[in-house]
Amino acid sequence: MPSEESHVFHPHPSVTKNAYVNSMAQYQQMYKKSLENPDEFWGEIAKQFHWETPIDNRNFFRFNFDLTKGPIFTKWMDGATTNVSYNLLDRNVRNGNGDKVAYYWEGNHPDDYSRLTYKKLLEEVCQFANVLKARGVKKGDRVAVYMPMILEAVITLLACARIGAVHSLVFAGFSSDSFAERIYDCEARVIVTADGVWRGEKLLQLKTICDQAMAKCSKDGHNVETCIVVSHLERVTAPKSGVPHKQTNKTPMIPGRDVWWQEVVPQASTSCYPEWMQAEDPLFMLYTSGSTGKPKGVVHTTGGYMIYAATTFKYVFDYKPNDVYWCTADIGWITGHSYVVYGPLANGATSVLFEGTPFYPENDRFWTVVDKYKVTQFYTAPTAIRTLMKFDDHLVTKHDLSSLRVLASVGEPINPEAWLWYYKLVGHQRCSIADTFWQTETGGHVLTTLPGVHPMKPGAAGFPFFGVEPVLLDENGKVIKGEGEGYLVFARPWPGLMRTLYGNHDRYELTYFSKFPGYYCTGDGAKRDADGYLWVTGRVDDMLNVSGHLMSTAEVESVLTEHHGVAEAAVVAKPHPVKGECLYCFITLTETGKFDDKLLQELKTHIRGRIGPFAQPEVIQNAPALPKTRSGKIMRRILRKIAVNDRDVGDISTLADSSVVEQLFASRPANA
Ligand code: WT7
Repeated sequence: MPSEESHVFHPHPSVTKNAYVNSMAQYQQMYKKSLENPDEFWGEIAKQFHWETPIDNRNFFRFNFDLTKGPIFTKWMDGATTNVSYNLLDRNVRNGNGDKVAYYWEGNHPDDYSRLTYKKLLEEVCQFANVLKARGVKKGDRVAVYMPMILEAVITLLACARIGAVHSLVFAGFSSDSFAERIYDCEARVIVTADGVWRGEKLLQLKTICDQAMAKCSKDGHNVETCIVVSHLERVTAPKSGVPHKQTNKTPMIPGRDVWWQEVVPQASTSCYPEWMQAEDPLFMLYTSGSTGKPKGVVHTTGGYMIYAATTFKYVFDYKPNDVYWCTADIGWITGHSYVVYGPLANGATSVLFEGTPFYPENDRFWTVVDKYKVTQFYTAPTAIRTLMKFDDHLVTKHDLSSLRVLASVGEPINPEAWLWYYKLVGHQRCSIADTFWQTETGGHVLTTLPGVHPMKPGAAGFPFFGVEPVLLDENGKVIKGEGEGYLVFARPWPGLMRTLYGNHDRYELTYFSKFPGYYCTGDGAKRDADGYLWVTGRVDDMLNVSGHLMSTAEVESVLTEHHGVAEAAVVAKPHPVKGECLYCFITLTETGKFDDKLLQELKTHIRGRIGPFAQPEVIQNAPALPKTRSGKIMRRILRKIAVNDRDVGDISTLADSSVVEQLFASRPANA
């Protein structure tokens, strides 16, 4: 490794100068207070929000993380009532920010853009909330959302929050099967979507996917009663190479069930009294992959999530009132929830909402947009950085990026090479980089450096955010002090931690709290260096992280074995230069199965259809036998070695038949 990669980079004085937190001493003092006196630390923050029923200070924070002492629970500000949409919209309008821009919307095509002020956003949220109410949506009901990056997506979420409905977004890149499974699991009777969206030069027919999902649900006995569809395609510019709009606008609508957004929303009243929610009432749920079985519906609650998303946004991005912030994440992921919608709006921020891709119309779209809106904070994923750094530097340098002050990264560990490119080329060695470690479950950032405080080490996540107490444990649950490597766990909840898994608290306790009593287990490994920096080393369970999309090996394996030609499948993660990791699949054929191009094509199509395009396997290897222990357990450790052609496989004495290993090395496919 070049010595540069072990360098420490100090925040630039221009970043430190006006930062909310600008010295190590200040960070330490605030951090100490957040742990020693969480009631006071978070209480002062909570005071900046509106509570309809005031917070009872005697009942500010309670939790149990130890299964041996009873059920797991976390409660913050229990008994107080509030409304998140009221705090994000009405409160900002009342504070004199009604005419401030909440979002600059930048379409897929550069000719398409618009803006929305706080005042207008509030009106539109109220209108849509009234539409939902008229359709019978009540407090506690789930609303499934399958939408592109358009303003109506934000409006939908906040309209749900306004009336106490629980939104359940599904990333509009998931297949109809995946969407159906999620609609079914959360028993949503209302769906909100759009007719379609252009992503680069590709057209996604979202309503068609919803139709397939709804059909699948009714076969399983669950009927969706209302599907509200934003008519989006006819108001945007299609790419030159795209199919003319007339041919694409064949969205079939089922009378009674399907309604156009544009036909119902403009008629609705622009005021809607907020539903006052308990601090511990659910705000939304969001599915994430589990290492076994079906996806987990992570539940976030009202009060704690709101103040945590707000506080992490403020400090981690060092957001100031005149800044323009841009997070490129899709709204369908937790990053989109916390850092495109809830965190920024809670701070009265101005954000960019971007519909397109980094590659359209040219590979410099990100930098064009940064320049266009004079973006001050830019938040993206390592996989995007690695893709963009392969293009000519000129694509970056020809744009004026001098407005940038804070850069951030999320989704997977960022490799030092990508970090340095980001730092030098995009940030001109002037911007601080926050490598934010967190999870769908954590609700907001839990490990990061703060832009005005911490010297940065490329690849290190850094330090705990306020209120977060990370611990490293060894296999036996013994705490590792000082330098060392182990399981990354947390000893107590911060306000934004999920409270349960939808409809399955047992699975919540089992997944996150059973391995090490007293701790929330992230499923990631981490090491602590001599300076106290935490470096996240990756998953310790059977999960894959492909371009920041987390999925389980079990999920992909079960889809592969659905094919009549496949008897058994084992999937492992293989490092990939751009995606971070990719899928390497081993399949054992059935007697009738034939390993040929047709099969490979069918398997790939099947995975796209059942999970989504991001789950497409990179390599599929024919494995007449898999390396198994005498008790029949597949030794994935060995498969991971075969995937990277590393013959240093270690101890294979527990295998039932060790000759399998050599066979698999010898038969690695040409594209592996
Ligand atoms: C998993 C969570 C949080 C939003 C995006 C993904 C990995 C995430 C980092 C980082 C190292 C990271 C972990 C984690 N991860 N950010 N900065 N450094 N690893 O949310 O889909 O719930 O995935 O992503 O493995 O457990 P998610």
